[in-house]
Amino acid sequence: MWGMEPTAFIEAKRDGLEHTKPALQEFFGAFLKGQIPDYQVSAWLMAVYFQGMSPAETLALTQVMAESGHMLDLSGFAHTVDKHSSGGVGDKTTLVVAPILAAAGCTVAKISGRGLTYTGGTIDKLESIPGWHGEFSEAEFLAQTRKVGLVVAAQSGELAPLDGRLYALRDVTATVNSIPLIASSIMSKKLASGAKTIVLDVKVGAGAFMKTLEGARELARTMIAIGLGAGRNMRVVLSSMERPLGKAVGHALEVKEAIETLSGSGPQDLKELALTLAGEGLEATGLAKSQARDVLESGRALSKFRQFVEAQGGDPKVVDNPGLLELAPEVFELKAETAGYVTALNALNVGQAVLLLGGGRQVKGEAIDLGVGVMLEKKPGDKVSLGETLVRVYHRGKGLEAALASLKSAYQTGTEPPATPLVLEVMRG
Ligand code: URA
Repeated sequence: MWGMEPTAFIEAKRDGLEHTKPALQEFFGAFLKGQIPDYQVSAWLMAVYFQGMSPAETLALTQVMAESGHMLDLSGFAHTVDKHSSGGVGDKTTLVVAPILAAAGCTVAKISGRGLTYTGGTIDKLESIPGWHGEFSEAEFLAQTRKVGLVVAAQSGELAPLDGRLYALRDVTATVNSIPLIASSIMSKKLASGAKTIVLDVKVGAGAFMKTLEGARELARTMIAIGLGAGRNMRVVLSSMERPLGKAVGHALEVKEAIETLSGSGPQDLKELALTLAGEGLEATGLAKSQARDVLESGRALSKFRQFVEAQGGDPKVVDNPGLLELAPEVFELKAETAGYVTALNALNVGQAVLLLGGGRQVKGEAIDLGVGVMLEKKPGDKVSLGETLVRVYHRGKGLEAALASLKSAYQTGTEPPATPLVLEVMRG
């Protein structure tokens, strides 16, 4: 039973005081039992938005969120690594990094989410492989972990349910954008997922949550402190999301590009980021960083991906022939109206174009079209002539005009090629 008055708890945060872990446990335990209404928790969230939280308090909140549901025990497995991205456009890195890590001797038992708005989700992407599914019992999940060393399951309501409840309130009370709330939300799911080493890819720029490098650094520092406080190894890569990653944006197109990257072709930026993230994960878990490139270039990561796809019911032939993935049948080529160098390609506008084609969901649970998307044939730094193809748009008629307008507004051209750094910083805990 709830002992403290909820108003006293809210008042403490309003006045900038620090909560103890027992107080957080009591307040949120009562909330989850329906003894404290949404409006009082909303008031508390707004108080956190303005007052912030101390490092100890942020760690305690994260632990209370993680412990609100089932905590996965991976302690019996060697070199457990989890990789997470703060969300971007065209970000299919998990599909490349996870098989690299597993092929190099790590255990990757991953719980992933679905996409919302203009950022895609790993589970949706993998579902474009015929037959592939991410629904498991815990026993099946652990059995595949043992057998393959790589498993990706869809997030269920049992993982950090308090985070789900708080996120829904943050979404409608303008309190999403608070560093302690974002950090505790992301890290609660990582702690509950059980890996000893956590590699985070924090995106920075137009198509990311964090628009500035300073904001991204602060988020990274907060998440590193939480991870270390909870006894985990932490690595954070800050990477640019000013422009989309790779050329493909859209579910089946992104899986195709990830397979091409595992096969030795694929875009350079995706390969660079995947090798950076995998190398950090390997090193943090005590294995050689150089293994990342070895297993990618020898084809062992591709074999691991094939084994993983088959273990989760997917058609392994897709891995050898990604042309078997179902793409939307209509292709529109958007041509350049000015010549020069592409100087900018706004990731948010590209993400919105794919959303308009039907390739993203506006609200949770909505069905999406896995076959639509875009291939960005010209990216920042590329030279372009008048009338050359900038983008190939895979569509079924829906939303095409609006998507084209969004794509046109995404591109800027000029006379000089821009600098296009991708990996901005690596922070190690
Ligand atoms: N991703 C999350 O899981 N939570 C946030 O608050 C923001 C991004």
